[in-house]
Amino acid sequence: MFDLRSDTVTQPTAAMRKAMAEAECGDDVYREDPTTRRLEERIAELLGKERALFVPTGTMANQLALMLHARPGEEVIAGKSAHLVHYESGAGAAWAGVQFATAAREVFTVEEAKGLVRSPAYWLPKTRLIAVENTHNMGGGRVFPQGDVVALAALAREQGLGLHLDGARLWNAAVATGLSERELAAPCDTVSVCFSKGLGAPVGSALAGPAPLVEAALRLRKMLGGGMRQVGVLAAAALHGIEHHRSVLMRDHEAAALLGRRLVELPGVEVWPVETNIVVIRVAEAERIVSAARDRGVLCSAIDRRTVRFVTHLDVSGEGFERAVDALTAAVREATHG
Ligand SMILES: Cc1ncc(COP(=O)(O)O)c(C=O)c1O
Repeated sequence: MFDLRSDTVTQPTAAMRKAMAEAECGDDVYREDPTTRRLEERIAELLGKERALFVPTGTMANQLALMLHARPGEEVIAGKSAHLVHYESGAGAAWAGVQFATAAREVFTVEEAKGLVRSPAYWLPKTRLIAVENTHNMGGGRVFPQGDVVALAALAREQGLGLHLDGARLWNAAVATGLSERELAAPCDTVSVCFSKGLGAPVGSALAGPAPLVEAALRLRKMLGGGMRQVGVLAAAALHGIEHHRSVLMRDHEAAALLGRRLVELPGVEVWPVETNIVVIRVAEAERIVSAARDRGVLCSAIDRRTVRFVTHLDVSGEGFERAVDALTAAVREATHG
């Protein structure tokens, strides 16, 4: 089976498991886990921020950011289909108590954002934060153009708003643009990154930003039940992913590009531009594709009635991926014309 449902399905490699087994550990609630300290310092340095905090999930990192930037009743501007609006079980409303004003597109411009900033009338919610997602998951792995992020940062400064970057796949954006993670993160106040996606770790994310905010995040993480003990075993997996798997992400992008090129040749299939490791197609009936692909040994997901998503990752890209592409194109041809 080629599992293209998500880049979260990877198995830890033997080398990653070895690094986990050998990790030096301590009680991280006492802040005594040396491997976690090392990871947090590495992330802060990579992202050019004062401090970083290891958290169990990208969802927790995003939710901490909402709680740090906004008060209950305040409003957050985000893109269409943003993960922190639509795929975090309503946590923004439940824990941070915020509401969202969403742009018409996943990757939005400063002009669009300006139109969503509330005027100061007391009967309106206060706009407090702008959140961007780079790369954009439901936008088909699209890169948020850096010029737009810089313009949004200028707007945020002018209006006294925060700017949060959901960088679950910031590693992929760096590969696609040739900009470093630090350059991509520079205009943003806080950044979340995930180790459990393209980097192939079993668990883990981080929130990075100014030291006082990350210090406040430490308390909030505990309140959410995210204080962890001998978590160096997981931090070691994240460090291993950063040092060994970031450099091979290009293979995922090449595999996705190959799949996109082959799918675009098929009648009845609309392929979104492929920028990173995600391929999205629009077809007449998504479930038929999913089922025909499964019959030929490829797993993929229907995002809605007409949209199918394929995600390349460490366990499928590279040698042998051609076979997945052949199987998939045969399945799509059969399901669209069968
Ligand atoms: C863009 C984005 N942000 C955040 C998350 C949340 O990560 P987690 O599944 O670790 O909570 C995801 C997960 O797919 C994501 O795609």
